[in-house]
Amino acid sequence: MSTIFAIAGKGGVGKTTVAALIVAALARQGARPVLAVDADPNSCLDAVLGVTVEKTVGRLREDVRGEAAAVPGMSKRELLELRLAESLAEGEDFDLISMGRPEGPGCYCYANSVLRDILGRVAGQYPFVVMDNEAGLENLSRRIAPAVDTLILVADPSRRGLGTLARLHALALEMAVSFSRLVLVVNRLRGPEPPGYAFELAAATGADGLIGLPEDAALAALDEAGQSLLGLPPDNPVAASVAALVRGLTGEAAGKPPVDGALRSG
Ligand SMILES: Nc1ncnc2c1ncn2[C@@H]1O[C@H](COP(=O)(O)OP(=O)(O)OP(=O)(O)O)[C@@H](O)[C@H]1O
Ligand SMILES: [Mg+2]
Repeated sequence: MSTIFAIAGKGGVGKTTVAALIVAALARQGARPVLAVDADPNSCLDAVLGVTVEKTVGRLREDVRGEAAAVPGMSKRELLELRLAESLAEGEDFDLISMGRPEGPGCYCYANSVLRDILGRVAGQYPFVVMDNEAGLENLSRRIAPAVDTLILVADPSRRGLGTLARLHALALEMAVSFSRLVLVVNRLRGPEPPGYAFELAAATGADGLIGLPEDAALAALDEAGQSLLGLPPDNPVAASVAALVRGLTGEAAGKPPVDGALRSG
């Protein structure tokens, strides 16, 4: 069974950045190959990871609709699976699948079920799956992902940003999004650690872990230049903190404590 890390949060807080650094950390820790899932139709996780995907699964499904009739004895789903390589990109230590959105006419629920089915089948072949989502919780509430092991909610350090995070957590519970562990990531810190109310929020949500990631000029420069974040050295402060988080999360299975530098009490 795969261990699935799903990253969520409001727009522009660093979800894709955190997802890419988790993929890099897992790969460095030997969990190869990792499956990176770009579940944000507007995202560019592929570019951030330095690979290119030809077509999203949503687009591919739409293309296949027209072709299935022309291939005797083959269902649309079989044809889609046959052509799935077009939605997969291979990196050195990871593969990436780009989901896109359900496209074209017809039942949205059916299109969703195709995406869910495909993702479930592909994900099952990898020990670790990292899913970058669009802002909000739509993907998770549509349940295109198989059961999530760790829900990673990312926020900026402002009080309003953390307020949004609290609302997203409440929404996840309300919509019965299933996850076993919750980690809060406060990104783009300008001080040494997350503000006090982040710790209050972590206690209130029963989070298993809370980490802060600093604002980092090297990371921003790579991104501005359109370069892959895999080019960040492992001792970069943001990459190193994410790697420590990943060690905590993957180590737990082996009986180690859940998250490095976990919750401060009170
Ligand atoms: N710790 C950081 N230090 C400096 N820049 C950062 C940091 N984290 C993220 N950024 C920058 O912030 C911007 C937004 O990050 P990112 O694309 O990861 O956010 P997102 O939550 O995925 O956005 P969207 O909701 O649009 O998908 C990017 O330009 C990224 O390089
Ligand atoms: Mg993103």
